[in-house]
Formats: sequence, structure tokens, C-alpha cells
Amino acid sequence: MDGELEIRELRASDVEALIACVRRCYGESYADPSFYDAAALRAQLASGRLVSRVAVAPDGRVVGHLGTRRARPGEPVAETVGGIVEPEQRGRGLLRRIGGEMNRVYSELRIAGVRLFATTAHSRTQNLIAAAGGVVTGVLLAHIPAETEYHGIEPARGASRFACVVCYQALTTAPSLRVHLPDEVAEIAGSVYADLALAREFVRAPAGGIAPVAGSIARNPQRGSRTLRLGALAEDGEPRFASLDEALRDADEAVVYADVPLASRAAPGVVAALHERGFFFGALLPGSTRSETLRLQRLSPSVELREPIAVAAPQGQRVLAQVLGGWRAAKTSRATVRPG
Ligand SMILES: CC(C)(COP(=O)(O)OP(=O)(O)OC[C@H]1O[C@@H](n2cnc3c(N)ncnc32)[C@H](O)[C@@H]1OP(=O)(O)O)[C@@H](O)C(=O)NCCC(=O)NCCS
Repeated sequence: MDGELEIRELRASDVEALIACVRRCYGESYADPSFYDAAALRAQLASGRLVSRVAVAPDGRVVGHLGTRRARPGEPVAETVGGIVEPEQRGRGLLRRIGGEMNRVYSELRIAGVRLFATTAHSRTQNLIAAAGGVVTGVLLAHIPAETEYHGIEPARGASRFACVVCYQALTTAPSLRVHLPDEVAEIAGSVYADLALAREFVRAPAGGIAPVAGSIARNPQRGSRTLRLGALAEDGEPRFASLDEALRDADEAVVYADVPLASRAAPGVVAALHERGFFFGALLPGSTRSETLRLQRLSPSVELREPIAVAAPQGQRVLAQVLGGWRAAKTSRATVRPG
């Protein structure tokens, strides 16, 4: 039956069939709204921002998908998105086959490495990433809404959100660059950098005398998150902010992320200011001088973690322990600052 499936590029004419496959896997609950929006998917395909491979049945149904997105053309690092196989086709190596086709795409696009985001609702994706040599670079403790439906898997139901394991898979030698390691995250970021073995020169700069913090805000109501993209990471078309207090005004989402460009000399000062506001280490997202990112996370006090958080790789379990340490410290200091 697998032999009847064709694995090929996702075309504009497949987009409705892809959305139907998303619905067979997640119902209406997938937190990336563009995967329900045919026009948005076509625009991303046309611009080259999204490049995908799909498994297609003889009747034209899309039964599996894996895609990659780059913030801008020429970026040496991409993010994988939308890894799905419809329930009837699972457990036969289909995602691995689609992933093999994606490896050709990465080499055609000269992509040096991919950032991957794996749910902790099950271990299937994490197992595949570990087998491919992926390194855990962080854990986003409450990334996935509790309402997410995993059709055909059904993890234990609960009211709390799922964590997401962030990984980096090196494909070729990534460009070397200089990064500023803020004191607040130096220990965990330093150990993740050691795991990654990337060519990095570390600068420990003083945090004082920093210019105003500006950037753009991405809100994702489906996910219940807000992401501040600071400095060079700001994206065209997103609302801008000129100070952290402006960016965090009415921030009542379950999760707020702050993406800090680590090649910037401003990084230590920005991270110190975010740390004071309850942010702690989320993940390292390797990239270029423009895109290498430290993602900090802040959880709303009402968010409860769905524990235990199942991280497959021993190296990832160490990272999880460090992230949980940051979360506890942030909780304690926020409780001290704002009792009750
Ligand atoms: C995750 C998913 C894409 C895997 O698709 P798949 O084609 O079944 O995956 P593969 O057959 O290539 O197997 C991948 C790994 O999943 C695991 N796996 C597959 N089927 C499994 C099953 N029935 N039970 C437990 N583990 C299973 C295995 O660890 C396997 O690796 P291994 O063969 O080296 O042991 C699919 O289950 C899915 O769409 N799930 C719902 C959506 C989702 O969670 N996507 C990932 C978001 S991060």
C-alpha cells in the first residue's frame, strides 16, 4: 500500500488536500492558523517561504506532510513545520521517508541546519529527531494548548498545556559567528552550545548602557502566545514596539516569548531587563549573525505544567532540568515582587 503513495513537492493545487489532512490529524485544533488558510499557504509557497514535501495517494488525498520555513531567502537555517501523517498511514516509516526527501530540499537550498519543534504529547517525533542526530537546545514548557487533539494517539487528557522540545539538526558546517552570552542564561546556554559544537566566539559584555529596546510583536491567539521579536529579528508587517513595557502591556496570554538576537551587543542588557520581568531560558535557535536567537519564555502565573514532561534523549533531560530550574526561580522572584 505504501508503494502507491507518491512523495513529492507540495503544489499550490494540493493545498486544500493538505488542509483536509491537517483536519484528519488535529480536527480544528492545530495552533498554526496558516495550515487552515489556503490563500496563506499558497502565498507562502509562491514566495518560497514554505517548501514542503507531501505523500499523496492515487486519488489525490494528501496523507502526510513535512515542510520547512525560512524567515527570509538565503538564511542558512530553516524551521521544520507541519510534520503529520494521517492516522491510517502511521507506523510504517512514512514521516521518515518524507523527511528523507526534505533532506534533498535542504541541500538544494544550501541549508546548514534545521530547527525542529517536537511535541511532548508523544515521543514519535522526538525519537525520529534523536535518531537523525538532533541536539536538544531547549524546552518551551507550555507551548501547546491543552485543547490540541491528537487524533489516533490520544495522550492522557488534561487541563494543562503540553511542552515542546526544541532541537537543532546540523546538516553541514554552519557559519561561525560571535555571540553575546548574557549572565542570566550563561550556564544553560553555555552547556547547550557545548552540546551543539558550533563554531562560536563568546563575548561576555557588561549589561549596562543599553539603547532602548525595539522590535515587533507576533500574537497567536490560537496558541495563546505572544512573541516579542527584538532588534534585527523584528519582522516586516508586524506591529512595532519601542519599549519592553509597551510590548508587555496587557500581556495576558498563557505564554510570552522574547526572541533576542545573540550577535547583538545589546543582548546582555535586554536579557537583564527581561529577566527582571519574569522571563527565563526557553531555547537556543542557531542561525546567522542576523538570526541566531535566544528565546526566553514567561508563563502566566495561572499556567500549570503538565508533568512529568517526557523528553526522550538524556542530553535533553539535562536541558529540561535546567529550564525547570529557571522557571522555578522566575516564579519565586515574581511571587516576591508581587505577593498574591
Ligand atoms: C508523528 C507522526 C507524524 C509520525 O508519523 P509516522 O509516519 O507514523 O512515523 P514513522 O512511521 O516514520 O515513525 C517515526 C517514529 O514514530 C514512532 N512510532 C510510529 N508509530 C508508532 C506507534 N504506533 N506507537 C508508538 N510509536 C510509534 C517510532 O518511534 C518511529 O521511529 P522508529 O521506527 O525508529 O521506532 C504521526 O504520528 C502524526 O501525524 N501524529 C499526529 C501529529 C503530530 O503529533 N505531529 C508531530 C508534531 S511535533
